[in-house]
Amino acid sequence: MSAEPTKIAMTEFNNSNLETLLTEEQIADRIAELGAQITREYADKDLVLVGVLKGSCVFMADLMRAIDLTLTIDFMSVSSYKDGTKTTGDVEILKDLSKPIREKDVIIVEDIVDTGLTLTRLVEILDSRGANSIKIASFLDKPEPRIKTELKIDYTGFVIENKFVVGYGLDAAGRYRNLPFIAIVKNPAEI
Ligand code: IMP
Ligand code: MG
Repeated sequence: MSAEPTKIAMTEFNNSNLETLLTEEQIADRIAELGAQITREYADKDLVLVGVLKGSCVFMADLMRAIDLTLTIDFMSVSSYKDGTKTTGDVEILKDLSKPIREKDVIIVEDIVDTGLTLTRLVEILDSRGANSIKIASFLDKPEPRIKTELKIDYTGFVIENKFVVGYGLDAAGRYRNLPFIAIVKNPAEI
């Protein structure tokens, strides 16, 4: 029998327009570290994790299971990016928190900080509601396009270069949130 070259089927996870940047294992290891750090630092606090929908949903699910403390979670949805890769600069609240955060120790859980416009505005909004403390946990930090350079990210998963990435909750026009890893989109025109 002659050996046929192995054909690898093209699937959503194995897609020729994607180049893996962070593997599932790298992600899991880092989140265990972040969870342990937050567990140490919030032992005597009244912690609420506020996830920014939709991008943070996967990070939120993993991070909260790495924090061995009494905590609650809530979600907000804001629009800063329209479909595609361009920022608008505006932040509009599409879904607000379900409970007040007065006197609470809030960690905002975000997928990625890019220009920083979204989070800067979100911190202002939540600060005006009388939280005891507000910190930021962002799975990814893309510092190069930052406009709000004064924005402090307290817990960062990974710092990455200025490329458009998808997976682990992050999307390109709604697609690829379900990838269990982070990938660079090689040709954004082909999404
Ligand atoms: P910022 O206001 O520019 O910091 O926007 C942050 C938001 O833009 C994130 O929460 C994402 O929804 C989106 N975003 C920024 N960079 C990327 C990327 O590389 N892939 C997917 N979404 C991104
Ligand atoms: Mg987002």
